[in-house]
Amino acid sequence: MESLTISEWLLTELKQGRFPPRMPTHRRVYEAIRRAIATQHLTPGARLPSTRSLAEELGLSRNTLLAAFEQLHEEGYVVSQIGSGTRVAATLPESFVTTQESGATPQTETARNTTSLSKRGTIAAGPSDQPSYEVQPFTPGEDDFSAFPTQIWRRLLNRQWRDPQPAFLDYGHAGGHLPLRHAIANYLRMSRTVNLTVEQVLITSGTQQSIDLCARMLTDYGDRVWVENPCYWGARRVLEVNGLTLHPVAVDDEGMAPSNTDFRNPPRLIYTTPSHQYPKGVAMSYGRRRLLLDYAASRGAWILEDDYDSEFRFEGRPLSSLQGMDQSGCVLYMGTFSKVMYPGIKLGYIVVPPDLAERFKRGLYELQRPGQVVIQAALADFIEEGHFSTHIRRLRQLYKERRYLLQKALAPVTNVGARLPPAGSGLHLVVELPPTCDDVRVAELAAEQGLRVYPLSHYSVGDKREKGLIIGYAYAATDRIMTYGRILADVIQAALSN
Ligand SMILES: Cc1ncc(COP(=O)(O)O)c(C=O)c1O
Repeated sequence: MESLTISEWLLTELKQGRFPPRMPTHRRVYEAIRRAIATQHLTPGARLPSTRSLAEELGLSRNTLLAAFEQLHEEGYVVSQIGSGTRVAATLPESFVTTQESGATPQTETARNTTSLSKRGTIAAGPSDQPSYEVQPFTPGEDDFSAFPTQIWRRLLNRQWRDPQPAFLDYGHAGGHLPLRHAIANYLRMSRTVNLTVEQVLITSGTQQSIDLCARMLTDYGDRVWVENPCYWGARRVLEVNGLTLHPVAVDDEGMAPSNTDFRNPPRLIYTTPSHQYPKGVAMSYGRRRLLLDYAASRGAWILEDDYDSEFRFEGRPLSSLQGMDQSGCVLYMGTFSKVMYPGIKLGYIVVPPDLAERFKRGLYELQRPGQVVIQAALADFIEEGHFSTHIRRLRQLYKERRYLLQKALAPVTNVGARLPPAGSGLHLVVELPPTCDDVRVAELAAEQGLRVYPLSHYSVGDKREKGLIIGYAYAATDRIMTYGRILADVIQAALSN
């Protein structure tokens, strides 16, 4: 360690206030010690002061220190031995990744050999721009959990559990629970103009897994994949881990906008969010859809259509799916129950072209033996009995109002050079900031006010970094959203006026 003692170092770290305002103190202490380890201020084997003395020196309660130490212990950062106190573990859980991050060389040959990750493992476990803090009013991607009809859901689950068929306790069938596949097929035909038979529907554990399955089944290491720039981080990570070469394609007001240079580099896969581009929020125009479909068909490329939140369209006619316009069978359509039900349900689906259906079903079964049959059966009832549509209608009203109020509260930011692009759907909106603005800093300033928003630049692929803020409104209570919105508007205005 340099000239500072560990308690002095921690004190400085805690005072710098780089933590979200509502983060509990024990969690701050834990993060600060973890950072000391990651940056090698505390090296493997180093002894930590006792919780009692650290508590005194940091001016905190001993319980706070005990809670922080317990978490470090549970996660393998420190070890405790009677007589020698608490020491930094010799083999750290993230030693490979963190030494890379800090630019330091690994400690010993043994440590490297026992903890080195594969290339794909390193990407999977690499630093993420996505904070893992508790949900706050504007956290993007969150639903209003309080609106979920828990009583109905409990009743439907109980019905399945009351007299469960033995098969419900076994592994699931390949492709997923048949009644749920039927319910999804009916829903997609009616609501999303998807052309399909039930054989084409496969249940997955969400979009991440759907993308992973497509990447494994349709690509080889090094293949090129077009992604929108900016792009959904979850898709990006999965595609990278599969060893694919990401080729960023710009997004304009008509959605994904491939240039002539892009067209000269045909991809194997095209990942796109046509109904509501994530994160920018635009819908893909009809002309662009035709262009993309014709290009993919002529080059033998597959299109992965991620239709993650199209249920929440507040204005205009519902947009048709890209899959519904596809004549050549090049679109794989993906949906999720994370937004309408709740994220923890971890269920999604993929509609694959007829010729691929059987092989995808077998592949999915081999790669991830399916389960969760009881939940799938309850979900099938939830859809077939009309609760799903009722719930969507309710949420649509709720989110429409929140969106309206938030737009109103944020309107003053357009006077200082920010832009609020028109968008009539989804669970988040984007405030575009001037190119010179440091959107990460603006997001930090908002976090100091208890408002977690995401900087748009974090979603960039490649060098072109657009600046802005992504603001979720589904989770913020209707009677508070104007207040939060005004606070955020003040933060943005102050940042842009400086
Ligand atoms: C663009 C996009 N696709 C899909 C999802 C949902 O993914 P999953 O089904 O894995 O929860 C999200 C979640 O925020 C998303 O933003």
